[in-house]
Amino acid sequence: MKNSIRILALAATATFAVSANAGSHNFVAADVNDPVTLRINIMQNVGAATGLVSGMMKGNVPFDPIAAQAALSTINTASLGLSGLFPSGMDENMRSTAGPAIWADADSFKSAIAKFIADTGAAKSSPPATVEELQAAFAIVGANCQSCHKAYRIKR
Ligand code: HEC
Repeated sequence: MKNSIRILALAATATFAVSANAGSHNFVAADVNDPVTLRINIMQNVGAATGLVSGMMKGNVPFDPIAAQAALSTINTASLGLSGLFPSGMDENMRSTAGPAIWADADSFKSAIAKFIADTGAAKSSPPATVEELQAAFAIVGANCQSCHKAYRIKR
């Protein structure tokens, strides 16, 4: 019980840190009929989980194996939900930063999602016992964020 309260407190701190870093608390209401709002919410949850992991890696948040594992599982769950959320014809949503390459090069985008699923799945299935192990796992997971965003996101 005590442990879970501590994890929630850590998660809240990390979420706040990430939102502050992103320069916004720009939350979007999730609408079950609108895949754009669903994928934005999924990515924001990935951002929050990444904030917790990065806080631990920097030593701003005490390393906690259970919280680290929960964050990696959250990111893996997000990766599993992505592929259906980019239907064609919705690329002009003004709130979205999804780039045209997603639809122009749909097979490559799908491969990027498949790699994200594989890398986060591997990280999740060997839970890090130390901060060094978390750093090693996240070096692989985090590379996905950068490469996918570079190819498939636009600035608004
Ligand atoms: C396979 C591609 C892909 C991967 C991998 C990926 N993202 Fe994203 N991400 C996107 C796309 C596309 C968007 C834009 C979605 C939209 O606005 O419609 C996005 C948007 C975001 C956003 C902005 C959400 C908002 O408020 O608009 C954050 C934060 C984010 N990603 C974090 C991450 C982090 C952290 C990782 C790595 C752990 C990651 N993403 C990995 C494709 C990816």
